Amino acid sequence: MSSFSAPKGTYDLIPPDSADFLAVREAISAPLRRAGYGYVETPGFEQVELFARGVGASTDIVTKEMYTLTTKGGDELALRPEGTASVLRAALQANLHRGALPVKLWYSGSYYRYERPQAGRYRHFSQVGAEALGAEDPALDAELVILAADAYRTLGLRRFRLLLNSLGDAECRPAYRSALQEFLRGLDLDEDTRARIDINPLRVLDDKREHVQAQLADAPLMRDHLCQGCKSYHEQVRELLLAAEVPFEDDPRLVRGLDYYTRTTFEFVHDGLGAQSAVGGGGRYDGLSEMIGGPALPSVGWALGVDRTVLALRAEGVALDVPSGTDVFAVPVGEEARRTLFAAVTELRRHGVAADFAYGGKGMKNAMKSANRSGARFALVAGERDLAEGVVQLKDLESGEQTAVPVAEAASAVRAKLNCPSAR
Ligand code: HAM
Repeated sequence: MSSFSAPKGTYDLIPPDSADFLAVREAISAPLRRAGYGYVETPGFEQVELFARGVGASTDIVTKEMYTLTTKGGDELALRPEGTASVLRAALQANLHRGALPVKLWYSGSYYRYERPQAGRYRHFSQVGAEALGAEDPALDAELVILAADAYRTLGLRRFRLLLNSLGDAECRPAYRSALQEFLRGLDLDEDTRARIDINPLRVLDDKREHVQAQLADAPLMRDHLCQGCKSYHEQVRELLLAAEVPFEDDPRLVRGLDYYTRTTFEFVHDGLGAQSAVGGGGRYDGLSEMIGGPALPSVGWALGVDRTVLALRAEGVALDVPSGTDVFAVPVGEEARRTLFAAVTELRRHGVAADFAYGGKGMKNAMKSANRSGARFALVAGERDLAEGVVQLKDLESGEQTAVPVAEAASAVRAKLNCPSAR
């Protein structure tokens, strides 16, 4: 061990477990690519103000959880706590919104929140996200929810649930907010929570403490205050999900930790994860563009937590079908065999075959151990006597069967066994 370890609230991804993370990212992003989402990558840090305005100045994320820094040049930056504000900023900066709409983008990366670390909650975590910018269409909301639910299913997850709500819009939310504030002011709440009533009353609904929840039983709900537009929009989203056979639960108390949401909001929760049960979440954010100085650009998106998705898979005992990284492993005995097999490995790799080599001049026994550990189906073995006869041995590591093949044909023989197209 060195004198250093990964900072509190972070962890390293190391083989073989790291393969699961790659598989999860791939399973979530492949369907997005097929649905017309283009890849976007933004910097790991942005101006603090982007998140203060975008995510919301009164949210926990902005007031307590951002890693902020002042550069030597005096810029106030923050490590990104989430992806939506950055992606929208990038799209506006590149004028993507002046082209065909919606602009559909996906991303994958690391995010940073100074939270109290616990199982499933880290200070550095990984999301795959998708944002569809510039269209107000219930089918777009449904598309995103369906893509997420299908991705979880494809991975083999079963015990996840989709919670769905509508948070209304600029037309109906203000009246609801006042009604909620009036209700909350009549309750027996501590000072901090009282302060929240003025700043961000919807967050009070999300208070997990029992004595608070007990008083909220009769709280007014957004559902009963939706304007006609929001009501019919939400009904269409629900119908599209029903038609696609994506089960959901209406959760009229679902509020999210970010302030930009309007209308459709949703969260995927997994029942095997304990307190940190949200494996993904998102919704519509029709006003965010204006909040960060852009034109009106109604949009919708989500982000799925890669770390928690991996934990959910483990909780369900799902083993991902991660193919072995190596097809063939070369085991040379002696200098000439090293040169010959190294050349064969190079040729195989140039043909796209996953090939590895016993480095470090280990003896035959250790080298065969490495070959078996690599998960390779075949080993190419050669010693002095083989080479004197102009052959190498191609060994099937599953059946133990071994065949001699001429040196010059070693690579093509492996490729033929692996059924590579156009071997020879
Ligand atoms: P979020 O709900 O804050 O939404 O995060 C999305 C997911 O990221 C969560 O459901 C969770 O799985 C994962 N996550 C969040 N914080 C942590 C943490 N500290 N440790 C481990 N995993 C975590 C957003 O970030 C929005 N930008 C989603 C969105 C996109 N809305 C519209 N477009």
